[in-house]
Formats: sequence, C-alpha cells, structure tokens
Amino acid sequence: MTEPVTLSFDGPIAVITIDNPPVNALSYAVIEGLRTCFYAFQQSEATGLVIACAGRTFVAGADITTFNDPAFSAAPFNALIAEIEASARPVAAAIFGTVLGGGLELAMACHMRIAHPATKVGLPEVTLGLIPGSLGTQRLPRLAGIETAFEMISSGAPIPAEKAVGHGIIDHLADEPIPAAVHAVAEAVLAGEAPRRASELPIPDADKAADVIAAAKAAADAKPWLPWLAEIANALEAGTVGFAAGEKAEAEGFERLRATAASRALRHIFFAEREAARIPGLSKDVKPRPVKTVGVVGAGTMGGGIAMTFANAGFPVTIIDTTDAALERGLGIIEKNYAGTVSRGRMTEEQMRERMDLITGATGLDALAEADVIIEAVFEDMALKLDIAGKLGEIAKKGAIIATNTSTLDVNRIAEATGRPADSLGMHFFSPAHIMKLLEVVRGDKTSPEVLHTVMTLTKTIKKTAAVSGVCFGFIGNRMTEVYLRETDAMLMEGATPAQIDKVVENPAWLGLAMGPCRMGDMAGVDVMARIVNEWVESGEGPQAPSYRAVCRALFHLGKFGQKTGEGYYTYDGRKPIPNPATDALAKEMAELHHVAPRAHSDEEIFQRLLFPMVNEAALILMEGIAYRPGDVDVVWTSGYGFPAWRGGPIFMADEIGIANVVAAMDRFAETFGNAHGHWTVAPLLRDVAAAGARLSDWRPS
Ligand code: COA
Repeated sequence: MTEPVTLSFDGPIAVITIDNPPVNALSYAVIEGLRTCFYAFQQSEATGLVIACAGRTFVAGADITTFNDPAFSAAPFNALIAEIEASARPVAAAIFGTVLGGGLELAMACHMRIAHPATKVGLPEVTLGLIPGSLGTQRLPRLAGIETAFEMISSGAPIPAEKAVGHGIIDHLADEPIPAAVHAVAEAVLAGEAPRRASELPIPDADKAADVIAAAKAAADAKPWLPWLAEIANALEAGTVGFAAGEKAEAEGFERLRATAASRALRHIFFAEREAARIPGLSKDVKPRPVKTVGVVGAGTMGGGIAMTFANAGFPVTIIDTTDAALERGLGIIEKNYAGTVSRGRMTEEQMRERMDLITGATGLDALAEADVIIEAVFEDMALKLDIAGKLGEIAKKGAIIATNTSTLDVNRIAEATGRPADSLGMHFFSPAHIMKLLEVVRGDKTSPEVLHTVMTLTKTIKKTAAVSGVCFGFIGNRMTEVYLRETDAMLMEGATPAQIDKVVENPAWLGLAMGPCRMGDMAGVDVMARIVNEWVESGEGPQAPSYRAVCRALFHLGKFGQKTGEGYYTYDGRKPIPNPATDALAKEMAELHHVAPRAHSDEEIFQRLLFPMVNEAALILMEGIAYRPGDVDVVWTSGYGFPAWRGGPIFMADEIGIANVVAAMDRFAETFGNAHGHWTVAPLLRDVAAAGARLSDWRPS
C-alpha cells in the first residue's frame, strides 16, 4: 500500500503531500503520516516546509467516520498542529478545492496560506451538529476577527477564496499554489521573517466581542434544541480570555456535542445521503448514457420548476405545452422566478439571460425528437399520462430516457405505455422543483440498470439529493405520509383540534417539523390530497373503510380546499391560520357518522400515533424492497418533507426511542382502538428488530 502522506524536497524547502482519496480526510493513518513526515522535516536540513495535497482537494475535513469511534480524541491532532505552528522554520499551506473543517484548521496552524483562486474555505461542523474541534473557534477569530468567525462557524457555509483573502484567512492567491507556497517560504527564509502564528495574534476586532457573544447566546437561547449554538458562544467567549482557555472550552464542547443524538443524527444523514445515490449490485461494466439535452412536457408549476433545475445546471431544455398561450404563461412564470432571484441579489442579470436562453418553448411533442432525457410533468391524470407516454415512445430517439413526474401513479403502467419500459422510469420532483432538494427516482419493474444509473448520475449534476424507490402507491415519501394523515384525521374525529396536532408536530421537543399536517394540508391543497385518496379508494386498491381520511374528504366535498379558498382545516387571514370551529364541528359530525368514540389526546399520544405508524410503514417498504436501505427512507424525509435532519429521519428517530418501545405502543393502540382495518398490525421486520434489541437503521436486505 502506498503511504497516505509523503515527504519530498524542492531544493531547501520540504514538501509534505497528503494523498488520501477521495477528499484527503484526516484519517488516523493520515494524522500518523503527517506526524512522521513533520518530524522527519524537523530532523532534516530543510529551511522551511510546505504542506500540500494530491488529488482533487486540500484536506476537506476530519474523517467523519472516526467520530463514531468511542476512543476518538482530537487531542493528538491538535497537539501535532500546535507543534507545526510552533516551528521556528516557516511553514505554508498550499491549498485548493474545498478546504473544510480540519483542513482549514490545519492550514490555519501554518504560518501562511497560499490558495488557488477557486478554493473554498469553511468550518461546516455545525452541519454535523458539532463545533470545530481542532482550534477553529480559536485561530479563526484571531485571523479573521470574531465577527467573521462567528458568521462562518454558526452558518457552516464555505466562503470563496477572494473573500477569504479579504478576511485575512488566505495570504495569497496563485494558479499553482504548491510552487507559489515553496517560493513564499523561501522568501520568508531569506527575509528572516519571524513565523506568524495565529494562536499568538490578538483578536483584531476585540471591541466587537461583547456584541458578537451576546448575539451568539441569543441565538442559542432561541433554539435550545440545537445544542451546538450554545457551545459556539461558549468557545468564542472563552477565547476572548486567552487561547488556552478557548482551547479547553472548545475541546470540552466538541466532546459533549459528539455524543449528542443530534450530532449522531446529522452524521447519519451525511453518509445516508451519499449511500442513497448508490445502486446495489450495479455492475462496474454499466456506464451511464451521455445526457446533453433535456425535454420537459408541461409548462405548469412542476414542468417550469423542472426546466429551471436543468437550465441551472447548464442543460439546454425544450419545454412543451399544448398551446402558445399556455407556453407563454409557463415561460413567463419561469422568467418571473429568475427575476425574483436576481432582485434578491442571488443571481446576476447575465446569468438569468443565460438560463432563459437555455430554455426553448414548443407546442408539439415532435420538438423532443432529439432530447436525451424527456420528463413528462403534466397534470396527475393517468389517462393523460398514458396518452403522452405512448406519443413519446413514438417520437423519442433511440436510447432516449422517458421519465414521468408523478407522485402517486403507477409508473409501470406509464412505462409500458411508452413501448420501451426498459428506458422508462419515474422522477418524482417536489414543488417548487427548482428549490426542493429531494428527487425520488422511481425504478419501474423493467427499468434497465443502465437507465437507472444514468438518472442517478444526472441527479448529482443537477444538485438534487436522490433516493431510489420501487413502484407502489405514493412511493417512499407519500406512502408514509398517507398513514400520518390517516392518523391526523382519526384524531380530529376523536376530538383533537388541528392546532393541537400541529403544535405537537412543530414542537422541537417532539418532532420539530416546519409545519404540522393540517397546515401542510391546507397549503398543499385539501383538494389535491382528497382527489388522490378518492382515486386510490375508487381504484379498489386503497382502504375501503368509509371513515378513512373522512375529514379531508368532507372538507373537499364542501369546497374548503385550504389556503387557496381561504378555508380548509383552518381559516386564513392572509397566510396566517386561524382555528376554525367549523372544522371541529365537521370532525364531530364525521365521528358520529362513523361511530368514532371521543377521547382526550396527550401530546405524547399525538406524537406516537403520527410517528410510529410511519415507521411501521417504512419497515413494510423495506421488506417489500421498495427502498434499498433504511437510510434512504430517512433521506427522503429530511430532504423532501421537512423532517429535521438533526432528528436523523423517522427511522433514526425511532431507533433512538427504541424499536421495542415503538412496537409496544403499536400493540397498545391495537388494543385500545381494535385493529379492524389492520392499521396497528406490526410489520414482521419491526417485530424482529425489536426482539433482537437491534436498530432498524442497521438492517440490510439479505
Ligand atoms: N470524512 C469521511 N468521508 C468523507 C468526508 C469526510 N470529512 N468528506 C467526504 N467524504 C466521502 C464521502 O462520504 C464520499 O464517499 P463515497 O464516495 O464513498 O460516497 C466521498 O468522500 C466524496 O464525497 P462527496 O460529498 O460525494 O463529494 P463532493 O465532491 O460532492 O463533495 C465535499 C466534497 C468535501 C465538499 C463534501 O464531501 C463535504 O462537504 N464533506 C464534509 C466536509 C466536512 O464536513 N468536514 C468537516 C468535518 S468535521
């Protein structure tokens, strides 16, 4: 095996090169290699040192997998970078790529940082529920000021090199950072300059420290369920006393956070998102097809958002609608959306023009004859979708991929209608499609591995977080939502109010979703939800009990569609929901009609009745092979449904509660409510996991 860290010499200057693909993360082996090479440099005659990396980036952070190791400690690495900083001979970091977390902390311990102009630097630890653990909270305020440090550490967002130069984080930009760093070190040696050690610098904007720390504490008080916010305030405040005090506070805070459920959840999501992109058992010989042009059928809200998604990634897109008027309207909305982004300063006029130029409208499907990927995004109507699928099958060129954007319809039927089911699949975008991260890629029974691989590769290019789902009603996300909404309506009939249910769901002490089910239903449209349920029931596949989702269906019947009609579960003052006694009366009426007994609901019961059936449904989804792995289910929920990532998704959260507790509650509900409709039948997988005392997250299909 080749060494991950090597020492070489460029004349009198030593160069340490880290080579640990893919992102030069600081594994134990890298840290040991760095130590060995640094000591060898110290023993050598070299007059100075450059620390550099091979591959696609300078160190992009600590190796996150090591954080789960109970024996993990940042102390050895921190001691090593303290020795590097203490070197009497000048040390420069030659940086490029994404210099994040431990990578930036290593670079800040060097006396100079020379960067490629396209470099990004940042401390993204908060995205993992952590604070920087290798003195990032101490050296950054001393280099860039406490105000900038707070902004970077609390947002976790990387900044571009040019900005980092302005903040004093990077010293020089160079197209060839390694020779430039060698040159800078040689110059420093010649000039006899004393090394500039970040830990010894005063905080340049110390006069702002009190205000920044007050703001950091206020942010922490406002969201006590995000424990890293208080640790940021604490570490920055201790740093104003002195570097050693700050070092101690940071180390203690980092260790406290590493053990929290929130940080473990966020680390789980980090890896689950990456794993979700992988197709199990895919042969290495299967290569993705080239995709250069894209067609979208339907210039409505979904079609427009999908067209923008591809244009944003540089693809020429042809968008189709039936009439010039519909097309003009659709293109007008796209333009308005872009103009909004420009007015918010997030895009230049020129970028907007470039993207609009990539989007061409047409009224005939023939215009899609040369498209590599065609996404049909018309109204959720099977007959219409089947008709278009048939036409696309005739028009599309050989090898084109034909996708349908549907949230509940049978992708296999639509794929068959194209006459080339191996080239067909579902792409379930979430609205607004150009903003929402999630893309459920629906694998039809006959979708070829090559086509699935092409689309999963494409999802990365268009910057979506993707998970694969098999074909079933609602796929992964909406199928689980269905049981969540089922229990919502059931509890309303039993006498709970929409506000009572939403409050529990939105409360971070329970779930912490941005919106409870009733507010969400009113926003998405009671009509949209009810039509889906009605069609499902009428198809004979859906539940046949007349009480099923009775409140939603009754609201629909009364024309109370939610926000768009000013009344649904709530009434509305603009967008503000106001409790609606008419809903309570309607729920009572439904309860009497369907013989539902009233009961009082504790917050705990509301929480359990919403989450646990979802977890049970997830277990069925796994058993049926609809999702490849438990992490995919969590990714769907955290990136598409507003489930807090710091909860790790429904399965991770259930694991934290204990699957045995989930099963016991399901059994208890079966006893309380009876199980006439099978709603409380525990999935065998869930029972097995509970009996084994295992975590559902660890389950894999055998
Ligand atoms: N530790 C361990 N593995 C890491 C890692 C880290 N810090 N950063 C990336 N990886 C792995 C990913 O899991 C992925 O592995 P896979 O190919 O087996 O799925 C691989 O490196 C490539 O990462 P990916 O995110 O797919 O590539 P990208 O080019 O889109 O993004 C980064 C690269 C570095 C920007 C991104 O991976 C990232 O943000 N990493 C985390 C950085 C971080 O938080 N550092 C601070 C840690 S405290």
